[in-house]
Amino acid sequence: MAGTHDDMMTQDQARIRAEELRRVISENNRLYYVENAPQISDYDYDMLMNELIAIERQFPALVTPDSPTMRVGSDLRESPSAGREPVQKEFLQFPHRYPMLSLGNTYDIGEVEDFAGRVSRAIDSPFSFSCELKFDGTAICLTYRDGALFRALTRGDGTVGDDVTENVRHIKNIPQTLRGSGYPEEFEIRGEIYMPYEAFDRLNKERERDEDPPFANPRNAASGSLKLLDPSEVGHRGLECTLYHLLGESLPFATHDEALGAAASWGLPVSDKRKICRNIHEIEEYIAYWDKERKFLPFATDGIVIKVNELDFQKTLGYTSKFPRWAVAYKFKAEQALTRVLSIDYQVGRTGAVTPVANLEPVQLAGTVVKRATLHNLDQMSALDIRIGDRVYVEKGGEIIPKITGVEPAMRDGSEVRPVFPDRCPYCGTPLVRDDGEAKFFCPNSAGCPQQIKGKMVHFLSRKAMNVLAGDATIDQLYSLGLASSPADLYSLTGEDLLRLDGWKERSAARFLKSLSDSRNVPFDHVLYALGIRYVGESTARELALHFGNMDALMAASREDLLQVADIGEVIADSVTAYFADARNREQIERLRTAGLRFSMEDAKSPDSDILAGMTIVISGVFSISRDEMKRLIAANGGKNSSSLSGKTAFLLAGSKPGPEKIQKATGLGIKVISEEEFMKMISPAPSADKDSTEKHGQLSLFD
Ligand code: IVH
Repeated sequence: MAGTHDDMMTQDQARIRAEELRRVISENNRLYYVENAPQISDYDYDMLMNELIAIERQFPALVTPDSPTMRVGSDLRESPSAGREPVQKEFLQFPHRYPMLSLGNTYDIGEVEDFAGRVSRAIDSPFSFSCELKFDGTAICLTYRDGALFRALTRGDGTVGDDVTENVRHIKNIPQTLRGSGYPEEFEIRGEIYMPYEAFDRLNKERERDEDPPFANPRNAASGSLKLLDPSEVGHRGLECTLYHLLGESLPFATHDEALGAAASWGLPVSDKRKICRNIHEIEEYIAYWDKERKFLPFATDGIVIKVNELDFQKTLGYTSKFPRWAVAYKFKAEQALTRVLSIDYQVGRTGAVTPVANLEPVQLAGTVVKRATLHNLDQMSALDIRIGDRVYVEKGGEIIPKITGVEPAMRDGSEVRPVFPDRCPYCGTPLVRDDGEAKFFCPNSAGCPQQIKGKMVHFLSRKAMNVLAGDATIDQLYSLGLASSPADLYSLTGEDLLRLDGWKERSAARFLKSLSDSRNVPFDHVLYALGIRYVGESTARELALHFGNMDALMAASREDLLQVADIGEVIADSVTAYFADARNREQIERLRTAGLRFSMEDAKSPDSDILAGMTIVISGVFSISRDEMKRLIAANGGKNSSSLSGKTAFLLAGSKPGPEKIQKATGLGIKVISEEEFMKMISPAPSADKDSTEKHGQLSLFD
């Protein structure tokens, strides 16, 4: 126990005990979080954790980056970045037992023929090739020990990889434990983690809605997701894995194909698209088949891997310093699609930037249907000499939105029309401007252009900003009905106002008002980001909030003061001063202050209420807000968070899918179980708490 550590403990004793504790705690984390089958009581778990915290406090040199006491994003410790974009963390690194090499690549079928010829000359007995899809994701190396997943390492530099075990445990088709029998006591199996198109599209839609930069392609999305801070977030990303290379000491298999067959029988995800080929013709047939068929696969493939199937012959052929001599990758050319330009839209973003976007005859490309492609700006349109009605080639490059790579002038029939780049904003008619050195035209009517106004409100409410649940369609309606034309207007909306929206009922109105009301708890740095000051993204907003501490200090800051802040250069400093110099912006800010938004980093620390004073609360399950945010709400209302149920627990706050053990234990101890909805009602300020919320809660109660 924490308190029983006598001061006589030597650093060496402490190191040994800390290692032991970390091992035991990790194993229990796995049992609790992953298997959903805890084997020790929450109390005993807390005691182990406290003991480790005490040792680390006494011997700071012993703190390791992987210590469960350090792990943010898990349930073990309040995350310092609670509610913010999950960031990538530093991972522990481990050496690879066998170097993780890459493959020789070619786009040239002739080189595949050369490879097959070289292999035939080196081996003078019959042999075969295993042909497989080349999965386009991020490489992973799994170690199974005694039938259980022991460790997952990324490729890293090929010699040392990042330990992403906890994240990998949340990938659904990777088994924690093997089934069947006959697996080696310890072995490695390597493969690829990738994100199927469907999950990729869903993730990017979500990111676009939240105004996070979308991932350029499923491969980036997969590797980014694999290195997320919060393992359970990894679980939501829809990653999948296919394994293609079994390694170990004296494995009882004659061929690679047999080894993968065995792996499949142990429950490991192995591709069923592989094929044994006897000669170059069969290899070429396989390549030709998949070059067409890959378009119908639900995930990205970028080629075919051809491997010598017999493990003895693999050994004979060996490795160069970089690649195996027994395998080669044939890469497919980037997919292109030919389609027609139907029209060109000129989109206006919340900052006023105008982007030409081509509407296309829908066409299938790399797993998704493409209907639009960006034309970036006027210069790009002129370079392509694009016309409406043209046949164009679209390609998915590294970028998110497909691009038009070329026009087919030979297919013109004379009906094509030269597009005219507008000289006025298509939404408000204001003459467009283009500053020196800028590639884009801008609509300068930031205060009056409906498209910019709506865009600003959408941004204001987005998840990383005020986190209010509202789609573009809601904002569209609020604006066109004259109910809101600025972020501050949103806080004066009443239930009656909302019932005027198409399809809105009392429940949806109440939910929206509640969400707005909750947004008063959003920390100051998010509020600052929500304002949509040009060049002030999430991290800049945080820098500014931390540096100046509150809105008044920030508003009073001179350009020179702003330039003192780390990472703030002249462009941002000018943008911030220009924003606060504008009287309309200052008026908005005063109205938002009156609405009760947090304008200071300090605000977050002062309790919202003392409604939960003296109550110890345990949370379990998934909530509509993050668990960290839920714990913050408990603390902000005077409550105490605990992970273990005991006689002292006031109630168990259960989201969806609460731990069955927790529910059982709570019932056994006669502890009340409260839903998220009940809890939210409990902590909602009484109608008289302040004038502004009186109005809204008055409305809310209409619907209760
Ligand atoms: S075998 C020692 N098989 O492509 C060779 N690799 O560009 C082990 N990849 O490093 C690799 N699908 O990350 C192999 N069916 C497959 C593959 C595959 C994708 C990846 C892998 C490799 C890279 C080479």
